[in-house]
Amino acid sequence: MPLQYMNNRSDRPEKPDREGTVRDDEGSRQGIDAAPWWQTGVVYQIYPRSFQDSNGDGVGDLPGITARLDHLAGLGVDAIWVSPFYPSPMKDFGYDVSDYTDVDPLFGTLGDFDRLLAAAHERGIAMIVDWVPNHTSDQHPWFLASRAGRDGPKRDWYVWRDAKPDGSLPNNWLSSFGGPAWTWDPRTRQFYLHSFLKEQPDLNWRNPDVRRAMLGTLEFWLERGVDGFRIDVAHAVMKDPDLRDNPPAPAGSRVLHKDVGPYGTQLHLYDRGHADTHGVYREVRRLLDRYGGTRQRVSIGEIHLFEPADLVSYYGADLDELHMPFNFTLLSVPWSAEAVRRTVDAMEAALPRGAWPNWVLGNHDESRVASRVGPAAARSAMLLLLTLRGTPTLYYGDELGMEDVPVPPELAQDPWGKNVPGLGLGRDPQRAPMPWDGSSNAGFTRTGVRPWLPLPPDAATRSVEAQTASPDSMLALTRSLLAMRRAHPALQRGSYRPVSDAPAGVFAYQRELGRDHLLVLVNFESGPALVRLAGQIHRSLVSTHGAPVVRDGTCALRPHEGVVLERG
Ligand code: GLC
Repeated sequence: MPLQYMNNRSDRPEKPDREGTVRDDEGSRQGIDAAPWWQTGVVYQIYPRSFQDSNGDGVGDLPGITARLDHLAGLGVDAIWVSPFYPSPMKDFGYDVSDYTDVDPLFGTLGDFDRLLAAAHERGIAMIVDWVPNHTSDQHPWFLASRAGRDGPKRDWYVWRDAKPDGSLPNNWLSSFGGPAWTWDPRTRQFYLHSFLKEQPDLNWRNPDVRRAMLGTLEFWLERGVDGFRIDVAHAVMKDPDLRDNPPAPAGSRVLHKDVGPYGTQLHLYDRGHADTHGVYREVRRLLDRYGGTRQRVSIGEIHLFEPADLVSYYGADLDELHMPFNFTLLSVPWSAEAVRRTVDAMEAALPRGAWPNWVLGNHDESRVASRVGPAAARSAMLLLLTLRGTPTLYYGDELGMEDVPVPPELAQDPWGKNVPGLGLGRDPQRAPMPWDGSSNAGFTRTGVRPWLPLPPDAATRSVEAQTASPDSMLALTRSLLAMRRAHPALQRGSYRPVSDAPAGVFAYQRELGRDHLLVLVNFESGPALVRLAGQIHRSLVSTHGAPVVRDGTCALRPHEGVVLERG
């Protein structure tokens, strides 16, 4: 049953009906009814530029999202996370914010935001917004004031440093998007720090006024009724106060999950992740808890740490920091049963007691999962994502099996790809407009308008409309996986136990809660596999390839097939 929301703000019920009390006669639901919505639910990320254009300028917007909410309700997701829609010069397409408490005219108005939020809530869909605490736009009034003079009250809101006596940079830190992390300001004769573009100066979170002002921006959206925040580069906010040089990365080591050029040649010991970062998120959490009542407001942090032990520190020593540090470990593993199982088990083992896991297979910064693992494996990748223990985040279009869309250099938009060429770092291919139907611009924007990025070349067959008509489509599969997840307490809340004697190339695991016992089998190989099912009667729930083939106590998996079986 969908969550029932009333309008936003203070008249919202504190406790929607899905979080009702545990009923004694339904033992297997125990633990679900008590679980917060963000643990049992599924998050869907919308990159607003690319979802739906409503005003014919070729760029998606908030009224466009509102108009497409029925697609999301029909799909069966529980929350949307909308990437930034705040006023911005768009140097990094909205991740350079020049006003944290408004909507960029490109995306609409605050009124459009309120209508979107209310319409989402009416459909039982929670709304998570992006929060970009590490840096503002260089056009933010705070930075304009900061750079106006060395003695101004906002000078210390950003990180300014003198040149070294020989005129060189304050230290060896690099920008993620290429070049040094310092830019010289000729007028005030100091460098300012920017972990990303020079148009994205880093805020000085050691200044209490910055902390207060930024927490105030959270309150603004909490008061409007948002259900939580995705926190951009969450671990970057606190740096080494002495700004020590980063050491070089040992030869052959990989600092990030992909080759990012010179940025990957340093160990990022001092330019992010200082221990004081934890204090920031304890404060954020206290604020969210204040607004939470019995329906929690969630914090999900973007943290590029691939060692489970490092990542889980952001849950907080007493689980008093982020509700979920985004778990990107599956973005970087070779797509094999053994590697994926090792990754899942390592994360499960590292989780502090009571911490809730989460899984991600794609976002606006990463090559699409269907391109990474290949179209044949994309279906079982979706099954995996929606059956692992923890909150899944789906990237828009992955329910259609969208692939990366190559963008010719003259149409390239993303500054990362332009600044650090030759490594395939440009993020345009994964940001292609969503194909909705068979019309000339796939329903994304009006006919005759040029979308901001090229549409998928296969838009007509890939579209929501085309796939709705086909029972074997990726869209149909995603819908049935989400429906199955909703119907099975074991999938939402149950335990995870890997099966140790699965054949090579098959990742098998059990999910159990009360009387609900499920077995998940995923064949990662391009050949068939036979799995003997120990002693129990198994009923098939879902397969990526039509009906699962279960006969005489054996499940015959086809290449790249994933199945979910229920133990009777
Ligand atoms: C995060 C965002 C990315 C952005 C960067 C700088 O990594 O996901 O899109 O470019 O932060 O804000």
